[in-house]
Amino acid sequence: MKKKRIFKSSDGVNNLVDLVHGFLRNISGKLKFSISYKISVTYFKLLFSSTFLILLITMGIYLVATIWGIKQEQDIIFHEINNNLTPTTLVSGDWIEKYPSYNVIIYNDKKQMIYSDYEWPIQADGPYYYVEDNVHYFGRQNKVILGEQTYYVKLLKNISTPMKRLALLLISIFIVEIIRNTHIIRKGAKLNKQVLKPIQDMTATTQAISEYNLNLRINVEGAKYELKDLAKTINHMLERIETAYYKQQQFVSDASHELRTPISVIKGYANLLSRWGKEDKEVLDESIAALQNESDNMQDLVEKLLFLARHDKQTHKMNMEAIHIQGILKELVKETTMIQNKHEIIDDIQDDAIILLDKNSIKQVIRIFMDNAVKYTPDGGTITVKGKLEADTYMIAISDTGMGISKDELKRVFDRFYRTDDSRHKIKSGHGLGLAIAKLIVSAHGGKIKVRSRVGEGSEFRIYLKCKRVES
Ligand SMILES: Nc1ncnc2c1ncn2[C@@H]1O[C@H](COP(=O)(O)OP(=O)(O)OP(=O)(O)O)[C@@H](O)[C@H]1O
Ligand SMILES: [Mg+2]
Repeated sequence: MKKKRIFKSSDGVNNLVDLVHGFLRNISGKLKFSISYKISVTYFKLLFSSTFLILLITMGIYLVATIWGIKQEQDIIFHEINNNLTPTTLVSGDWIEKYPSYNVIIYNDKKQMIYSDYEWPIQADGPYYYVEDNVHYFGRQNKVILGEQTYYVKLLKNISTPMKRLALLLISIFIVEIIRNTHIIRKGAKLNKQVLKPIQDMTATTQAISEYNLNLRINVEGAKYELKDLAKTINHMLERIETAYYKQQQFVSDASHELRTPISVIKGYANLLSRWGKEDKEVLDESIAALQNESDNMQDLVEKLLFLARHDKQTHKMNMEAIHIQGILKELVKETTMIQNKHEIIDDIQDDAIILLDKNSIKQVIRIFMDNAVKYTPDGGTITVKGKLEADTYMIAISDTGMGISKDELKRVFDRFYRTDDSRHKIKSGHGLGLAIAKLIVSAHGGKIKVRSRVGEGSEFRIYLKCKRVES
């Protein structure tokens, strides 16, 4: 058996109210935000005001032309009255029959009506227009002197036909205008939709973009002119965001990877210590040394990571001051000579200059290059530190006779976590962050780095810094 649905009358009303509310919200939302709607309304206003203007101008021209024609006619009639009529023939009124579209009223010099071919309600003197029984009249009065007598002759022209023609003309123009305007508005709305479609596409695409599909791009083909430029600009921006996002992800995964090794070494030695180390002095010593080494390694890595993070967040502050560069370079050469004795360090720091620098950062940069030169140069090799003034630029060069870098790898040595194959195999320590940090610091000083290297022969890293004032 079919169940009967029972409606309460209030339910029906509420549903209807909800429906109407929804509909109105939908419509008002669309109307409010649709540029296309706003453009159409503007078109509509412009077109209909121009239609109104056209009607007004047509009416004005037509009326002026008609009245001018009537006045010409009336002038001819008055001319004929003056020249051909006598007081008796004038007052008889027979002459007016020659002009079928005219009526006449004649007054004597005391303005008393002495002849009229119709009962006129209006007694105005000047030109006037009025409608009687759906018939339109235009009247004009003139003074006529025949013999000794003065008369006032009022000629009234029936202008119903020209007025009907005018009405017909205005209606025709109005209909043509309505058809034309509707056509323009419809075409315009269609064109608007086409022009604005790319904006809808852009909105839809950008709404769909999240961290999981950063590779989505706006379809540039559909857009034209400025919208094409906008779409291209958004796509470029998305490209930059995508690159930065993946770089960041790569950075996090590389950093985690780098931290995994020392952590597992530390864990391994901790296990070793807990099993055998308490009794075995040798194991104890080895473990302590390894733990110290790994924790130093980890500290170094964490400090480098923190530096990069601070730099990326732009919270790293430089403390710039005018500094004698020669002193710093000599100090660092001395420091390196003291901490290692396997390489010959040559001091070729010829010139001095005052440069605006963050002292600690620039020391860090030189240490990075010196550390690399020591690390990647076999024992007995030579490391030279040069300091030379070239016009208003100070050049610092750290060269070595080490393993060198191949041409392909040279392009990547400044990338974060990049290490050449050779260095990974032969020298284990290092995170591939030193040169990336050096590059950031030198750039922050407005300087440049240049590298020259040959595999098996050695490398030279040059830093160019602008001087503040040259010391003689
Ligand atoms: N003087 C050099 N001679 C040969 N190769 C070098 C030299 N300097 C840098 N490199 C290569 O460039 C890579 C990147 O150097 P970078 O200083 O950034 O990292 P790292 O020395 O490996 O580690 P760390 O973060 O501890 O400095 C090195 O791994 C090495 O392969
Ligand atoms: Mg290094």
